[in-house]
This record gives sequence, structure tokens and C-alpha cells, in this order.
Amino acid sequence: MPAIKSIDWKKGRLIIIDQRQLPQRLKYLYLSDVKEVIRAIKRMSIRGAPALAGAAAFGLFLGIKDFPNNKNYSCFKKKLNYIAHLIGSARPTAVNLFWALERMLERAEENKEKPISQIKIFLLKEARQILEEDRLTCRKMAKFGCHLVKDKDRILTICNAGILATVDYGTALGVIYEAVKEGKEIKVFSLETRPLLQGARLTTWELKMNNIDVTLICDNMAAELMRRRMIDKIFVGADRIALNGDTANKIGTYNLAVLADFHKIPFYVVAPLSSFDPNIDDGSSIPIEERTPYEVTSLFFKRSIAPRGIKVLNPAFDVTPHNLITAFVTEKGIIKAPFKEKIKDLLFKR
Ligand code: MRU
Repeated sequence: MPAIKSIDWKKGRLIIIDQRQLPQRLKYLYLSDVKEVIRAIKRMSIRGAPALAGAAAFGLFLGIKDFPNNKNYSCFKKKLNYIAHLIGSARPTAVNLFWALERMLERAEENKEKPISQIKIFLLKEARQILEEDRLTCRKMAKFGCHLVKDKDRILTICNAGILATVDYGTALGVIYEAVKEGKEIKVFSLETRPLLQGARLTTWELKMNNIDVTLICDNMAAELMRRRMIDKIFVGADRIALNGDTANKIGTYNLAVLADFHKIPFYVVAPLSSFDPNIDDGSSIPIEERTPYEVTSLFFKRSIAPRGIKVLNPAFDVTPHNLITAFVTEKGIIKAPFKEKIKDLLFKR
């Protein structure tokens, strides 16, 4: 596989692919302060739940690296909390971002007796660890998920749950990479994913680059392909999964799950444990990001496609009820329904 690094840390800078420029240009951004990281997250130069976790962790480090080493821990902690709050306000739905921030704060707290200069070193180490773990986690999920894929399967996916959305390999797309690596012949259908077109711009780009057979379709073509029996399985990623298995993912995922249920097509969610929210019982309390109307009316069009001032609703995610999900693929294995107790076991008995 060509080495595409969606996120990396070198010489004190966070290096990310500017995903806004794809597929036209493969351009990297070199971020050396937390404001730049927050801007990149808000503008979606970096996106996808696990990649956001990495960006948040390094963003937090960048935000405190110049804090005076001679101040006490309580001042340092105030600053840490403040920066974590700023980063946490950038995007609300992907829980991985908050998971990474919490992990960083915990690491600082555990070492509060140590000099500030030392705590900073621990925080940088923790951020690096978050990247490294995601790399391994994606590989493990891919291996487990691969058992669900048969030779000649035609797989539908939405948004981008691949290399670009993680540190490496991807979640849903990782399963596909692994299946192809094992010699299975796979066809992928990628939904374009209105309004930001992550499927059209990113998923097709990375799959094509890796020589995977991929066909782009508009979002409203999914039902017809299913009716024609052209889809065997659906694999998607996740941004936040409640304890009962209700799953927030890119807007349009719920549509797919309903259609899959109607057409009796297995619907799989591939996600690391960092995408499960231990504080949320069901999908009704998952915060859903609402983005600017501009993305719907104008962003990818030469001229606005709607009358000026038209009312627009632009929720970036939806919640798929757990009863429409066939199974979750995690780094600890495959979880089949009923989910609740199994998810709790995985999260709380680690
Ligand atoms: O708004 P985005 O592009 O950050 O949304 C991303 C998704 O919904 C992905 O499917 C999800 O993060 C899973 S990524 C491995």
C-alpha cells in the first residue's frame, strides 16, 4: 500500500493532509500552535473520529508546551483545562476527540507531583502513544472484520472511514484493505456523501490509490442498487456509540441502515472502543453537530443551487438505532446483538 500519512508528528509540528484539497491536490499542513490545530479541525482539513483524537492530543500539547516551567501544577492544570475546552468546542459529535483530551488530562493529573517540564514530556509521549495505538487498533479491527467478508462481495460504504479518517488503514475501509490483501475479490460502492462529499472526494481517492475496485454513486441511488441485488454488505464507521449500541455516524448512515433492514443486507459498524461513549445510555443524548447552510447551497457549486436566504438544515450526523445494526467490529472482536451487556463488559471490564 502506498504510505499516505493522514497525521504525523515531526520536529515539534503536527503534520496533516489538508483533506479540503483532495482529490485535486495532496497537500500537507504543518501546524505548530493550538490555534492552527483548532482551525484545521473546524474547517475539516482533518476529520474522521480517530484522526480527530490524534489531532486533539497534539493540539493540547502544543497549547501548553510554552507554559512557564516555574509555575505550580494548579496554574498548569487551569491552562490545560482551558485549552482542552477550546479544542473540545471545535467539533461536538466524535467522542474520540474528548476521549483523547481526557486521556491527556489524566496523564497530567497522575504526574502532578513532578516538575511541569517533566509533565510536558509525559503529555507528548501520551499523544504519540494515541497515534501508535490507533495504528494497531485499525489493523486488529481489519483482521476481525475480514471474517465477515467473502470473495466477490460487493460492499457499500458512506463518508470516509479509511486511512484519511484514522492514523492508518481505517475502520470500515481497513476491513476492505485486509480482505483484498487476503486475496478476496471485492467491489466497493462509495456514496458521495452530501454535503461535504467525503465519499466522492476522499474514499474514492484512497481506494483508487490502493487499487481497490470502487464505483461512486450519489446518495439517493443506494436503494435502487439494493433492490437490484447489487450490494451484499454495508460497512460504515462511527463517531459515537451509546452503551445500547445506537450509533452516530455521517448523515445518511441511518437511511442506509433502514434500507439494509428492508432488503435483508447485513449492516456492520467498524469502530474502536474509543468511539464508544461510556457516559451515554442511548442515542438520544448524542450531540449532533449542525453545520453552516453554505455547505448545502454553495460550497461545491459554481453558483448557489438554492434561492438566496433559503432556510437550510444541515445536521452533520444521524443516529442509527442499535436494532438495525448486525454487528460491531472492534479491536477486541466482533459484537453481535444483544449489544448492551457486551458493550458494557468491553468498556468497564478492561
Ligand atoms: O464529518 P466527518 O467527515 O468527520 O465525519 C466522519 C465520519 O462520519 C466517519 O464515518 C467516522 O468518523 C468514522 S471514521 C473512521
